[in-house]
Amino acid sequence: EISGFAFDLDGVITDTAKFHAMAWQQVAEQVGTKWTSQLADNLKGIDRMTSLEMILKAGGHETEYSDTEKEQLADEKNHNYVNLIKTLTPDDILPGMLDFIQSLHQNHYKLALASVSRNAPVILERLGLTDSFEGIVDPASLKLGKPDPEIYIRAAEVMHLDPDKVIGVEDAAAGVTSINKAGETSLGIGDAKILHEANLIFANTKEVTLQAIKEKMTAN
Ligand code: BG6
Ligand code: MG
Repeated sequence: EISGFAFDLDGVITDTAKFHAMAWQQVAEQVGTKWTSQLADNLKGIDRMTSLEMILKAGGHETEYSDTEKEQLADEKNHNYVNLIKTLTPDDILPGMLDFIQSLHQNHYKLALASVSRNAPVILERLGLTDSFEGIVDPASLKLGKPDPEIYIRAAEVMHLDPDKVIGVEDAAAGVTSINKAGETSLGIGDAKILHEANLIFANTKEVTLQAIKEKMTAN
């Protein structure tokens, strides 16, 4: 019996995945790594420093930057990203997500946030969703980011639920892997080819309703 939902933020609740991609593309161009849609997909859900390492590696530049220079590149990316998210308002919640979150409350499900983004609290505040979650996993407290299961295990803990009672909601392949390894049910939103490991797949946020989830779960 499912009793709680653990949500990713970027690309699930609001379309900040596109802002992360825009800001990382600038870094990629600066270091001389070719920006591709595949690289963009691979970076989804990945924490800040690991993302930078992946961008450097994709272009064969991993040995060219000192730790201090890497910190600078990551700071620059975040500076650009923070500028891009300044104008977020509750209107930027993805289609259907507010209704879905409200229906979860009405049906007494618990909710937790499982985002590795250090910017998650300010984004939730701008979307007017801070009070919608029982708990937020603090990314600073994690040893390993997605695809490691730690963040989704912690999300179940903040809801005081066993993992098998939790559905994790993701737009990223790394996130789906994290959910599956945590022993939860994975719900992927997006391209079925990229999210093929997900237990339940929805093409977009509008389609995600409690009713549709129940139907897919009984069909499985
Ligand atoms: C994830 C995003 O939610 O957060 C990644 O999908 C991002 O693209 C990561 O790199 C870390 O975000 P931040 O805001 O801490 O740099
Ligand atoms: Mg995401």
